[in-house]
Amino acid sequence: MSPDEFRKYAHELVEWMAGYMENVENYPVKSSVSPGEIKGKIPDDPPLHPEPFSALMKDFEEIIMPGITHWQNPNFFAYFPANTSPPSILAEMLVAALGAQCMIWETSPAAAELEEKMMIWLRNMIGLPAHFEGVIQDSASTATLAAILTAREKMTGFTFNDEGAQGTGVCRVYCSEQTHSSVDKAVKISGIGRKNLVKIPVRKDFSMDPDKLKEAIINDKAKGYLPCCVVATIGTTGTTAVDPVKAIGEICSENGIWLHVDAAMAGSALILPEFQWMLDGREFIDSFVFNPHKWLFTNFDCSAYFVRDAASLIKTFEILPEYLKTRTRGKVNDYRDWGVPLGRRFRALKLWSVIRSYGVEELQKKLRYHIQSAARLSEMIAGEKDFEILAPVTICLVCFRYRPTGYDEKQINILNEKLNHQLNDSGKLYLSHTLLDGKYTLRMVTAQTNVTMTHVERAWTAIKETARSLGS
Ligand SMILES: Cc1ncc(COP(=O)(O)O)c(C=O)c1O
Repeated sequence: MSPDEFRKYAHELVEWMAGYMENVENYPVKSSVSPGEIKGKIPDDPPLHPEPFSALMKDFEEIIMPGITHWQNPNFFAYFPANTSPPSILAEMLVAALGAQCMIWETSPAAAELEEKMMIWLRNMIGLPAHFEGVIQDSASTATLAAILTAREKMTGFTFNDEGAQGTGVCRVYCSEQTHSSVDKAVKISGIGRKNLVKIPVRKDFSMDPDKLKEAIINDKAKGYLPCCVVATIGTTGTTAVDPVKAIGEICSENGIWLHVDAAMAGSALILPEFQWMLDGREFIDSFVFNPHKWLFTNFDCSAYFVRDAASLIKTFEILPEYLKTRTRGKVNDYRDWGVPLGRRFRALKLWSVIRSYGVEELQKKLRYHIQSAARLSEMIAGEKDFEILAPVTICLVCFRYRPTGYDEKQINILNEKLNHQLNDSGKLYLSHTLLDGKYTLRMVTAQTNVTMTHVERAWTAIKETARSLGS
């Protein structure tokens, strides 16, 4: 493609992108294609000869777009969101054009130094103490894996990486029954083993019970296990419950255990002074992750991982083949040593663009609006006798179900599952679900970048009407 052709298509694409962003609300939120439908439309073999970009765009519209679920549609209330925003998209365009692979400082000093600065900005915005240093990871799952590997290395005197599991004793990791499955994945692949992940019961509000944590650690120590890491969550996936970081931190500190905090979604709310209570006990935290790609208007992927002791993280991951030896080593941050991949995208630019374009106050305003929308939704739900709220509303997620009279628990579960599918198949809105105390629970998250109260109210009307038509 010549520079002139690129220019022509790029202008067309910008038009397409702006139009998409303006009209995204008119697309069905959830794709309704059948499994295999898209694959069936794509040839098994690649073309032997060049095709014009216009042919690709035609197929993009006709084949790909029907198979897209529109996460940026303001009627997307499912899962946790993957926020984006115009300043973030513009920065991603620049990053794609630069095509820099930022594995070490020398392969793009600006990427490394901007990342260092952006992590300081974020750290200060969310109120983590100044001794934390940060690095951008692709996902919270990767950050949690990094935390568990570092905790394992520290616990085994940095021998596990070299020797394997021999003679180190059995490490144990603790999290609540409501913790995200990324912790299960991390213990599996860290060599600690899933059997050594201890799930601590939760309290009525679905947060970890610190007394039960203490009991589990005492029992494990008596059996000769090595309590190695506790993962506390600020904003669990199911209900956004907040584990008591301070009480958990005191137990960790008494027992020399690494405390990792997973704040993947709710961490963004820490930019609001009124949510700083979630970080009580911050002095005990060893590592902390939150995802600007969820709820800080920054395109996926961008996960902010902070550590108290960067030296231990680096010691866990560092590897130094000849071709990576540089004259600046030790004087700069070579982020390849701060996580799993060697190659790294220039992710800091989109954060810089987002934070500068909005400013902290505007970001705070947007988050508060999302939080108020959830409060409004929960008021509306609470006002209907045949619906019930199933978990405390902490930030921007409401967990609820339809509960008409005359049905037993099993039938209510079936009814709510049907309701969920019928709503999602309509293409008008998208909810997700979880199971709380055996109850099929609808989850509605009011944190999509462009969601308004009107979208929330309209969705609630559709939910009520659909539920009552099923229940009658
Ligand atoms: C609390 C929590 N932790 C971790 C994750 C995993 O996030 P990622 O997709 O960035 O790995 C999620 C995903 O929703 C989550 O809710």
